[in-house]
Amino acid sequence: MLKQKITKCLFPAAGYGTRFLPATKAIPKEMLPVLTKPLLQYGVEEAISAGLDTMAIVTGRGKRAIEDHFDRSYELEHQIDGTSKENLMSEIRGIVNNCKFSYTRQVEMKGLGHAILTGETLIGDEPFAVILADDLCDNDSDEAVLTQMIKLYDKYRCSIVAVEEIPREDSSKYGVIAGDVIEDRILRVADMVEKPDPKDAPSNLAIIGRYILTPDIFEILKDTKAGKGGEIQITDALLTQAKAGNVIAYKFKGKRFDCGSVDGFVEATNYFYSKEK
Ligand code: G1P
Repeated sequence: MLKQKITKCLFPAAGYGTRFLPATKAIPKEMLPVLTKPLLQYGVEEAISAGLDTMAIVTGRGKRAIEDHFDRSYELEHQIDGTSKENLMSEIRGIVNNCKFSYTRQVEMKGLGHAILTGETLIGDEPFAVILADDLCDNDSDEAVLTQMIKLYDKYRCSIVAVEEIPREDSSKYGVIAGDVIEDRILRVADMVEKPDPKDAPSNLAIIGRYILTPDIFEILKDTKAGKGGEIQITDALLTQAKAGNVIAYKFKGKRFDCGSVDGFVEATNYFYSKEK
C-alpha cells in the first residue's frame, strides 16, 4: 500500500549550468538570485507551501554553497540581529528552522533520470515531488503549482507531470506528451517523447519542472537505457508507467519562467521586480 501523504521534495541540482558561464564557474546555478533570493530557495518555498517538510537535494562537485545557504550562519546572524537588516534573513531562518534537508551527490552527470535515481537513498519507498529549480513558477491568485499537483495526487494516486502549451518549434527543448483529456486541465498520458524534433512531437504540451512520482519509478529507472543525448531520461521511465495508465498530465494554473536560459531569467527578474514595486 502506497504511503498516503507526500512529505519529501527532490531537487536535482548537480548540473553545471554552462549556459550561465562564467557566473556559474564557482557558484551553483541554483544559487543565482532572482532579485535577492536564490532560485533554489523559491523552489523550497514552493514545496513548503505545498505542505512538504523534507528537502532532498541531489548535488555534485562545487555545490557546497547550497548546503551553507540552508544552514545557520551564526556570525552573520549575530552581526545583524537587532539591526534594520534582521528581517532580510527572516524567510531563510524560518526555512532552516522548520525543514529537514538531506543531500547526496551525483558523481557522474548521466541525465535527469539518473539524478532522480541518485536521490533514491534520500526518498525511500514513498511517493515524492520533484522540483527543477530553474523552472521558476509563480501564481498571482491561485495556489502554487506543486500545491495544485499534490491535491491531484490525493485523487489519482499516480505519477503526475505539469505541462504547458508551447510553440511547436520549441519541442526540442522539452519532454512532450500526448494523451486523452479526462477532466478539465487533466490528461491521461499515452505517449511521451524527450526533446523531439518539432515534426515528431506528439502534441504541443511540454513537461515543465514539476513532477509527482510514485516510488516504483526507481526500479524502472534502473532498467531504463540511455536515451536522448546519451542520458538516462525521466521522460523514458515515465513512459513505462504511462503505458500502464499510471501517469497524468496537468495543465497547471500560473506562470513559469525558464530560468535555465538567460532570456527566461531576465523575464523572471523583471516580473518579480515589478511585482515587488
Ligand atoms: C528536463 C527534462 C524535460 C523537461 C524539462 C523541463 O530537461 O528532461 O523533459 O521538459 O526538464 O524544464 P532539461 O531542461 O533539464 O534539459
